[in-house]
Amino acid sequence: MYQTPFDINFVRSQFPGLDTPWALFDNAGGSQIAEQAISRTTDYLRQTNVQHGASYELSRLAALRVEAGIEVVRQFLNVDESCEIVAGSSASQLLTNLSLAMRQWIRPGDEIIVTNLDHEANITPWLRLADYGAEIKFWKVNRDTLHLETDDLRQLLSPRTRLVCVTQTSNITGAIVSVRPIADLVHAAGAYLCVDGVAYAPHRLPDMAAQDADIYVYSQYKVYGPHVGMLYVRRALMEQLGNINHYFHAESLPYKLQPGGVVYELIAGICGVGDYFELLSDELGNDADLPRRKKYRKAFDAIHAHEGRLNSIMISYLQSRDDVEIIGPALSDPDVRVCTVSMSFRGMRAADVTQRLEESHIAVRNGNFYAARLVESLGIDDPGGLVRVSLAHYNSADELDKLISVLDTCR
Ligand SMILES: Cc1ncc(COP(=O)(O)O)c(C=O)c1O
Repeated sequence: MYQTPFDINFVRSQFPGLDTPWALFDNAGGSQIAEQAISRTTDYLRQTNVQHGASYELSRLAALRVEAGIEVVRQFLNVDESCEIVAGSSASQLLTNLSLAMRQWIRPGDEIIVTNLDHEANITPWLRLADYGAEIKFWKVNRDTLHLETDDLRQLLSPRTRLVCVTQTSNITGAIVSVRPIADLVHAAGAYLCVDGVAYAPHRLPDMAAQDADIYVYSQYKVYGPHVGMLYVRRALMEQLGNINHYFHAESLPYKLQPGGVVYELIAGICGVGDYFELLSDELGNDADLPRRKKYRKAFDAIHAHEGRLNSIMISYLQSRDDVEIIGPALSDPDVRVCTVSMSFRGMRAADVTQRLEESHIAVRNGNFYAARLVESLGIDDPGGLVRVSLAHYNSADELDKLISVLDTCR
């Protein structure tokens, strides 16, 4: 049994949005923002809301605050150079822009592999490259296990494969996909790997050095920060891509992939997410001198353990019901899954379950969560799709008990 490694009341007190009668279990849709990130955002607006690029001191200070936000992302992802990080409004927008920059890079006959496990954000942009000569292949989940089998990928790879796009965690099944073995296969075939980390990054610390993906995207607004998305593109690849910005930005990284200004105050606000991880790490033990990335690691190790506990409560309850199907691994191991759990009820429609929970101020959600191809492949005939309970590390076992007591009336 996993033990909660931190004082949950301390963690919760860092998120002002949790001060509500609602138990919030729609975190895979968007997390609560840390107090520190709110402060950093408003500090920017109150103190340094001027244009960048001028020589006056305030302009330089404003630019430094935005750079500091990017530096937090660099540390969070374990990336070598800040020029490999592109900021945008969302993961969907960033991948769409990236695909525009690939229109000339893709050669007629090049093959792109996408999955039917992914959120549509990591599918549609690549399908559109078919108009520029790409051939698209689908890597489909094993219908019984809902896993992507590496043997199936092996069959799909060919000397013409240029790009493989896969999620690191399904926003439906919550299952964690091991990126490194996929990266090794893809690179051995001479292709590039694009990973959607949106459903992973709120729960486990990404590591570009270890994972070896060439492209990685996540949504900061699901990782305790403001509403922006972040994209990593390996420098050697970014240099090959087209410029979607003004002509004089053709050689400037990452600006060739980042047309227009970013929302400065929100990028500056990301510093507060870093502050929060550091505070959590300090709270866990007195090694205040640890380097920043190590503090993030320590915070995420604790998140991993707490989520393991939440998983075991949730999964063992659902397994006790023979009228509920868990769509994803029926396992609580936090190395196997994050605490995003989707389910279908034999005796009740998904929308009715959601409504029943809402009546008790429990926020969950039903639908296909834009992983429409996966949900279609499951053959679910309820137009309301699946019920998804998505937890974050600030959810408590008490909240989960409340959820379970109302779920128990859903029969
Ligand atoms: C796995 C996954 N990928 C991509 C996205 C799209 O993210 P964004 O809202 O930042 O475009 C989502 C959003 O829910 C998601 O869950």
